[in-house]
Amino acid sequence: MSDHEENRETDAHSGTETTGHEWDGIKELDTPLPRWWLYTFYACVVIGVIYMVFLPAIPALPGMANGANDHTRGLSNNSERANVALAMADLEASRASGFERLRGASIDTIEDDPDLLGFVRAAGDAAFGNNCSTCHGSGAQGFVGYPNLNDDVWLWGGTYDDIRTTIRFGIRAEHDDTRFSQMPSFGRDGMLTRSQIGDVTDYILSLSGHEAAADAIERGGVTYASQCASCHMPDASGDRSQGAPNLTDQDWLYGGTREQIVATIYRGPYGVMPAWEDRLGDTTIDALAAYVYLLGGGESAPDSPVGQ
Ligand code: HEC
Ligand code: HEC
Repeated sequence: MSDHEENRETDAHSGTETTGHEWDGIKELDTPLPRWWLYTFYACVVIGVIYMVFLPAIPALPGMANGANDHTRGLSNNSERANVALAMADLEASRASGFERLRGASIDTIEDDPDLLGFVRAAGDAAFGNNCSTCHGSGAQGFVGYPNLNDDVWLWGGTYDDIRTTIRFGIRAEHDDTRFSQMPSFGRDGMLTRSQIGDVTDYILSLSGHEAAADAIERGGVTYASQCASCHMPDASGDRSQGAPNLTDQDWLYGGTREQIVATIYRGPYGVMPAWEDRLGDTTIDALAAYVYLLGGGESAPDSPVGQ
């Protein structure tokens, strides 16, 4: 017991006992800690001990296998790093099984299997965002020269197989199997005069209901039959085997004003779509082809029981 113990007294003002310490007449009150504080403190100590026993707690004890990077494991042997690795492995496994089931599946199988359909939508959406949206737009809506992939207008065909082939080998791309065709540069290479191009434009526009002078349409029709029908077909409905667009619909890849059409015929369009075979795996291409098909414009294959 120390000296000041005998100086303890009850403080007249607060009614609390003093500790006996006194500095120049200022006395220290011995106020007890509030109960709630004390019990919270004890609870923290108990939780701390339990935590140390069960969970990783004490780092870098001497003699640990990984030296300064190591720590006690705790009875639960929990490790966030291991948990992340496990979660990644799970994700890989579920993706692998999705891709595995996609391999060789027909589009009908995909459409009838909700799990596979969900997988295609998720995997296709991610791959499209990373590789395709720069040219085709984030909603695949397309831009001038870059086709809209949501509609049912197809240059090269809209079955699952057609789309897959387009993505794999590209169009006018650097690949031996690329889809290829080339419309001549009628104006630039002097194959047609300005007025012949004007007439054939009037003829084409008349096919989708636009007005033009009858004699221009007639002259244009003659030029069309000799210069254009071999690719765009005599009725101008297009030819998918060479990616020649239908010229009778209202859908224009390179723009549908008279000036735009004249410019297209003058220079000869040459749209390039890269080949993806070497950049994306077969299974990613399958997922993308199914994704594009399911955007809305996909066509059933001719021998498909669904038909269209
Ligand atoms: C560098 C620009 C570019 C990128 C990137 C690109 N495309 Fe294309 N794509 C085009 C062009 C241009 C065409 C039209 C080519 C033509 O005029 O025949 C096209 C055509 C297509 C077609 C054929 C449409 C039809 O009507 O037949 C499909 C399908 C297609 N792209 C899918 C994709 C997918 C899927 C990706 C991503 C893996 C992709 N594209 C990435 C430029 C691109
Ligand atoms: C050798 C085949 C071939 C011939 C001949 C040809 N075209 Fe084309 N034409 C194409 C192809 C292929 C495309 C699409 C090119 C592309 O997508 O880049 C095209 C595209 C067009 C387009 C753009 C359509 C759009 O949607 O924007 C017009 C217009 C057109 N052709 C008109 C003509 C006219 C008029 C002639 C005759 C004077 C002609 N073509 C002759 C193959 C041909």
